[in-house]
Amino acid sequence: MQATNYLFFLALLLCTGVLPAQNPALVPLPASVSRGTGTYALPATVNVVAEDPDAARVAEFLTDFLEVAGHPTSLNGTGTAAIRLRLTDDADGEAEGYHLLVDDAGVTVEASARAGLFYGVQTLFQLIGTEGAPLPYVEIEDAPRFAYRGMHLDVGRYMFPVDFIKKYIDLMAHFKFNTFHWHLTEDQGWRIEIKQYPRLQEVAAYRDETVEGRAQTRDRGQETFDHERYGGYYTQEEVKEVVAYATDRSITVVPEIELPGHARAALAAYPYLGCEEGAYETAETWGVFPEIYCAGKESTFEFLENVFREVLPLFPGKYVHIGGDEAPKDRWESCPHCQKRMEEEGLENEHELQSYFVQRMEKFLNEQGKTMIGWDEILEGGLAQNAVVMSWRGEAGGIEAAKQGHDVIMTPTDWCYFDYAQADPATEPLGPQAVITVEKVYGYEPLPEELTAEQQTHILGAQANLWTEYVKTPEHAEYMAYPRALALAEVVWSPQLVRDYASFVQRVKALRPLLDRWEVNYATHIFGK
Ligand code: ACM
Ligand code: ZN
Repeated sequence: MQATNYLFFLALLLCTGVLPAQNPALVPLPASVSRGTGTYALPATVNVVAEDPDAARVAEFLTDFLEVAGHPTSLNGTGTAAIRLRLTDDADGEAEGYHLLVDDAGVTVEASARAGLFYGVQTLFQLIGTEGAPLPYVEIEDAPRFAYRGMHLDVGRYMFPVDFIKKYIDLMAHFKFNTFHWHLTEDQGWRIEIKQYPRLQEVAAYRDETVEGRAQTRDRGQETFDHERYGGYYTQEEVKEVVAYATDRSITVVPEIELPGHARAALAAYPYLGCEEGAYETAETWGVFPEIYCAGKESTFEFLENVFREVLPLFPGKYVHIGGDEAPKDRWESCPHCQKRMEEEGLENEHELQSYFVQRMEKFLNEQGKTMIGWDEILEGGLAQNAVVMSWRGEAGGIEAAKQGHDVIMTPTDWCYFDYAQADPATEPLGPQAVITVEKVYGYEPLPEELTAEQQTHILGAQANLWTEYVKTPEHAEYMAYPRALALAEVVWSPQLVRDYASFVQRVKALRPLLDRWEVNYATHIFGK
């Protein structure tokens, strides 16, 4: 056939739908998808067979999904298997990778580890949710681009109920995120129960009122308040429940206990933790406060170590986040304890004192078998030995840390701050004035070009941060996160080469029925309305 005839014939086939239709609408896009010709109709009762006891729990997620989608199911029933879940003993297989095949024998999902099987089943949810029955023949080979795929939630400014935290985790898992960064302590509230320090629950977990509007600390005097006492905390039992729920969904929870800054609530509960013995109160406005933990007194370290002794057993993951950001040094400059510490330790300035503080905490956490993460300010004054840097003030901190041989998680404000508006702030709910559209997030590239290939191996992945100064409700939090989280999911999971924004928008459109079924309060700007 001549080339022109061939093209004409091809166009005709595409128009008449004889050729395989376009690939299924999947987010994040798998590494490789090949669609065959033919379809497999799910039988009236879908028999799901978990060929390995370790696959059984994943099979339960699948049968639950199918039942809600209107397909009666049986699990390891006697009939022919419609869907097989298989753990292979491929020792070289990627733990989070999977192989999914739909052909005339039905559906097979194979993986070398439970996490991969779980992700294969998430892909199957989308196939069933968007293609319905029958399913197109398709073969998918998939594995993530980055090992760390995170979403953060600030529960210090406003607290969110356990049920919502679980929903947040569920949605993350559906889109193959694997790390939930739980920002648990703030100037405005301490949200995790520490039994040895009851005043954290009685005092630090509450504030007397909250500033209205966009006022920051520096506006003090002009702002108005809501006059409503606000607060609460998660009990250790609730924390265990959340962690177990996340683990079940292949998500690791990273707790963040902020130090030395963002500590006003803790100081309100235990004023001896500050440089000046005096009255402190849990913050009622937003911004950065000078009241931070005293780096000179031994009692500060004793407190923090005791806090971590209760926190660490609740979180089985290897990472613990210690904050480290936005710690003004004003109090340390005039504190005799802090100055004495600097003299004794031969520290040149207060940045080095912060490094002393952080490195001392790191040594303690390493002894407990944990790896410490900190915001990029922990670079100032010298990086702790094994610390992982979370780069938020752009990518410079992450680049510097990777050059020093440290692992890095990218969360730069210009792409990853989901508290920023996703469209013209004048038409969006109250929040920061900056705008990060879905398309901007989608265009993020976590591997900086100026790093060598070896240095790039230190970029573990990326994360979106959802700060909540202006986000009081679960519905609002979800609105800020979705659909931007879907864009980031594709950035951290899919091969860079397959990313295409127009295709992404089409696929998210196709996924809307599924998002609606999961009752996601997503923003609709990308759909043109
Ligand atoms: C931060 O946004 N202060 C990490
Ligand atoms: Zn001090």
